[in-house]
Amino acid sequence: MSKTHNPRYFITTPIYYVNDSPHIGHAYTTIAADVMARYRKLTGDSVFFLTGSDEHGQKIEKAAEGNNERPIELADRVVIRFMDLWKRLNISNDDFIRTTEERHKIAVQHFFEHIKAKGDIYLGEYEDWYCIPCESFWTDTQLVEGKCPDCKRPVEKVKEQSYFFRMSKYQDQLLDYIEKNPDFIQPSYRKNEVVSFVKSGLRDLSISRTSFKWGIPVPGDERHVIYVWFDALVNYLSAAGYPGDIDRLNDIWPADLHLVGKDILRFHAVYWPTFLMSAGLPLPKKVFAHGWWTVEGEKMSKSRGNVVDPNEMIDRYGVDQFRYFLLREVPFGLDGDFSKTALVGRINGELANDLGNLLSRSLTMAIKYFGGIIPEPGETAEIDDELKKTAEEAVSGLDEAMKEVAFQRSLTNIWSLVSFANRYIEVNAPWALAKDEAKKGRLQTVIYNTLESLRVTAVLISPFMPETAEKMWKALNIPTLFDEVKITDTEWGGLKAGRTVNKPAPLFPRVEEK
Ligand code: MSP
Repeated sequence: MSKTHNPRYFITTPIYYVNDSPHIGHAYTTIAADVMARYRKLTGDSVFFLTGSDEHGQKIEKAAEGNNERPIELADRVVIRFMDLWKRLNISNDDFIRTTEERHKIAVQHFFEHIKAKGDIYLGEYEDWYCIPCESFWTDTQLVEGKCPDCKRPVEKVKEQSYFFRMSKYQDQLLDYIEKNPDFIQPSYRKNEVVSFVKSGLRDLSISRTSFKWGIPVPGDERHVIYVWFDALVNYLSAAGYPGDIDRLNDIWPADLHLVGKDILRFHAVYWPTFLMSAGLPLPKKVFAHGWWTVEGEKMSKSRGNVVDPNEMIDRYGVDQFRYFLLREVPFGLDGDFSKTALVGRINGELANDLGNLLSRSLTMAIKYFGGIIPEPGETAEIDDELKKTAEEAVSGLDEAMKEVAFQRSLTNIWSLVSFANRYIEVNAPWALAKDEAKKGRLQTVIYNTLESLRVTAVLISPFMPETAEKMWKALNIPTLFDEVKITDTEWGGLKAGRTVNKPAPLFPRVEEK
């Protein structure tokens, strides 16, 4: 197939289990993916951003049983909480796939049959351990004190007939791929973990179950349902048009970036690529594993009652404040701690004091000294070039950081412009210039440059805090539609003099807590 345009940038989140409501862990990956999707659109890419729900398997079946409802009723009910939360968080996904949809079922069965026709699936017997919360198989030797090595919860003995995927056959091919594509698994310390796992020996993988019913039947052998991870991973293909829509598939697949938590890296960086190798499909370009949040220093869990509900955070602190905090607090990849003190500190500091004040004092001065009309720049000084250079470096630094999926660095980089713009005001002291009619030309330049820094900042923060960026855009009364802004619009000097600014309510009200 020849391609007539650039292929889409395809970014995914994991698809979330619908046995429970969304928490900050889910919100974290989804916000990160949204920021990346929005940034790529800003750079002019055509983007396909996918999220969805994982609705099959024993874990969902058990949860439904516990509620006295059918699994599909549970799924229909809980999936809405995810969809609603993504709307509230301004998630710009292009599709939402549910694994109970027909398009997905067709894709999974086709994928299974394709791999089977390759000779890579055989019928055997599984006898080992299963962890339902993780939906993972374990051998005796892998257990830690008789429990699941990942979540430390009890496992159950499973002895049943099962279809197996010849994963062992792909061990060398996978190692070779990882070595030749150093960016495939990120961060690099996680890559090393995957490599040693693969080197310790890949066993064939059980990919069907007979002891429960809630799943996609194995084609031609309806006693079996397909293993939930085999089912779930294929969502990335079913949403991309597999198997029927070849043009769409060629346009979208392979994925450019699978964002996942560190706990599910093995499924994405070992199982998934070996399935794809067997099916003869290209592998995703990058799998990036982020770290985990603890809450006020403790592991987040239902039993501890400390699960953070993103809806509460939005109600109390605001959408953009929450989005900002999650990506600013911890380098993406490492574990971090979620605490209200840290959140409030960042809202009152970087958001209210640094950015909010910069906008509000700049507009106040523009109104006071020029009746709100953006002045033409007049007399210049050396520090103006420094400001311009800082803005240009913020743009290029953001691009480098985003290429490395380094959200925290992206933000600190933007804040170097915000801080410099604040300093620029202090150093130039417009209030003093305003007292001297002879310095009017200089005052015009200072106000113009300050507003111009804000215009550039609005573009740069737009993937992270879309609502705030749009408020800034409107305050500066910029004629370009906000949805049509591109990164190239950050070129210094783009602000048009002569238009009238509007002063909005404070961007980030200060939070006073205990
Ligand atoms: N259904 C599977 C994914 C299938 S993808 C083909 C699944 N779902 S999940 O709902 O349990 O979790 C999804 C994501 O939430 C994972 O990426 C996981 O890392 C993330 N988190 C769950 N708890 C978390 C924290 N405490 N902190 C950060 N992320 C966490 O796994």
